[in-house]
Amino acid sequence: MAKTCFLHPLMFMLLLFVTFRATLSKNSHNITTDQSALLAFKSHITHDPHNLLATNWSTSTSVCNWIGVTCGSKHHRVTALNLSFMDLTGTVQPHLGNLSFLASLSLRQNSFHGSLPLELTNLRRLKYLNLGNNSFDGEIPSWFGYFAQLQRLLLYANEFTGVIPSTIGNLSKLEKLSLYNNNFKGQIPTTIGSLSNLKWLYLDNNSLSGNIPIEIGHLTRLEDLELEHNNLNGEIPSVIGNLTTLTYIDLSYNSLSGEIPPVLGNMIFVTYINLSYNNLSGGIPLTIKNLTSIEDLDLSSNNLKGEIPSVIGNLTTLTYIDLSSNSLSGK
Ligand SMILES: *[C@@H]1O[C@H](CO)[C@@H](O)[C@H](O)[C@H]1NC(C)=O
Ligand SMILES: *[C@@H]1O[C@H](CO)[C@@H](O)[C@H](O)[C@H]1NC(C)=O
Ligand SMILES: *[C@@H]1O[C@H](CO)[C@@H](O)[C@H](O)[C@H]1NC(C)=O
Ligand SMILES: *[C@@H]1O[C@H](CO)[C@@H](O)[C@H](O)[C@H]1NC(C)=O
Ligand SMILES: *[C@@H]1O[C@H](CO)[C@@H](O)[C@H](O)[C@H]1NC(C)=O
Ligand SMILES: *[C@@H]1O[C@H](CO)[C@@H](O)[C@H](O)[C@H]1NC(C)=O
Ligand SMILES: *[C@@H]1O[C@H](CO)[C@@H](O)[C@H](O)[C@H]1NC(C)=O
Ligand SMILES: *[C@@H]1O[C@H](CO)[C@@H](O)[C@H](O)[C@H]1NC(C)=O
Ligand SMILES: *[C@@H]1O[C@H](CO)[C@@H](O)[C@H](O)[C@H]1NC(C)=O
Ligand SMILES: *[C@@H]1O[C@H](CO)[C@@H](O)[C@H](O)[C@H]1NC(C)=O
Ligand SMILES: *[C@@H]1O[C@H](CO)[C@@H](O)[C@H](O)[C@H]1NC(C)=O
Ligand SMILES: *[C@@H]1O[C@H](CO)[C@@H](O)[C@H](O)[C@H]1NC(C)=O
Repeated sequence: MAKTCFLHPLMFMLLLFVTFRATLSKNSHNITTDQSALLAFKSHITHDPHNLLATNWSTSTSVCNWIGVTCGSKHHRVTALNLSFMDLTGTVQPHLGNLSFLASLSLRQNSFHGSLPLELTNLRRLKYLNLGNNSFDGEIPSWFGYFAQLQRLLLYANEFTGVIPSTIGNLSKLEKLSLYNNNFKGQIPTTIGSLSNLKWLYLDNNSLSGNIPIEIGHLTRLEDLELEHNNLNGEIPSVIGNLTTLTYIDLSYNSLSGEIPPVLGNMIFVTYINLSYNNLSGGIPLTIKNLTSIEDLDLSSNNLKGEIPSVIGNLTTLTYIDLSSNSLSGK
């Protein structure tokens, strides 16, 4: 806590400085700047098994013809960099922050490693960031909150650690947040409730603890909620009854307790519910009769008691049901 309070003013000064410098140099940035940024990036690729950049990223041709590079027609600057699935190994250089017109960056499924340089904060036009399935480590810096245009943030399957920064709540345009298969710890930040455009939330397979924040009830556009394989505890908050657009909910493999909230019946479009491997008690709420789109229902390995409601027999869309390892009676 003391550490966080100490770092914040410093971080803020640093950000002011970066912002100031970016403003100063804005007019001097052109396609030549983009070329040197990409060449600096290339010089830190330590393994390029298919010789993609080695032969293709040549100064004898415009960067706009380079593989993986897209330029905008208006300003003739690099707007997208897509180096996904190229088997590249390397680190991300601060120079990448000079690609000031970049709206889309994908390094998906390579072997990039190391942490993310602060200079990336200059990429204020970024709408799409996919660093999924690499070996990035370190924390998600709090300056991620500056990517005000970001719609998709995909950092899944890396070695990121630390807490999910609360500034994530500043990404008001975010539709997809995919952080699964990392080592995130601590609580799900309550600021997540500010992400009113969020449709897909994947925080599964981390080491998140604490309660599911009630602010999740503000995410009224959510379609897919995956929090499985964490250490979440407490009750499933009844505000999930607000999530009426959900089609997929997986809270399995946590330590959730208390009863299944009857408002689950509000999720009339839900096709998949998995609450298995928790410590849920009480009965199966009768309101499940409302789940007229449900295909998979897995409530196994909990402490559920009582009669299995006969209304389940009327859910004609149901193709898979597992109620085993509970204390339920009936058919
Ligand atoms: C880019 O800007 C530099 C000055 O910062 C200038 O020397 C260079 O000619 C410019 N290049 C293009 C392609 O406009
Ligand atoms: C680089 O790759 C792009 C896209 O595959 C191709 O259009 C271009 O001709 C290549 N350039 C060189 C110099 O190999
Ligand atoms: C990047 O390229 C891959 C492979 O060519 C493609 O599947 C993917 O859709 C592209 N991503 C973006 C954001 O353009
Ligand atoms: C680009 O970024 C690097 C590192 O952040 C910096 O040293 C360099 O001066 C920047 N500007 C240009 C025009 O390349
Ligand atoms: C990650 O990449 C490997 C191949 O490099 C692939 O087998 C695996 O399915 C990918 N995992 C994810 C989560 O995309
Ligand atoms: C982000 O949100 C926090 C509160 O969560 C706020 O203090 C901060 O000023 C906001 N701005 C940025 C750019 O992070
Ligand atoms: C969880 O993530 C780790 C990597 O952090 C991966 O090795 C493992 O297969 C994942 N487990 C599941 C159940 O997805
Ligand atoms: C439930 O959603 C409504 C809007 O549909 C919102 O006004 C309300 O604050 C939400 N409740 C909670 C607890 O988030
Ligand atoms: C279930 O559906 C009925 C109408 O069929 C509705 O009156 C009731 O409010 C719903 N209950 C829940 C918890 O969604
Ligand atoms: C529910 O989750 C558990 C644990 O993550 C998994 O083993 C099981 O296959 C899932 N059930 C369904 C129907 O997918
Ligand atoms: C599970 O819940 C019961 C109450 O229903 C409680 O007595 C027990 O300690 C809980 N077990 C765990 C492992 O949390
Ligand atoms: C199942 O549906 C039928 C026809 O709609 C109805 O008559 C019956 O009462 C329902 N059974 C239960 C247990 O809700």
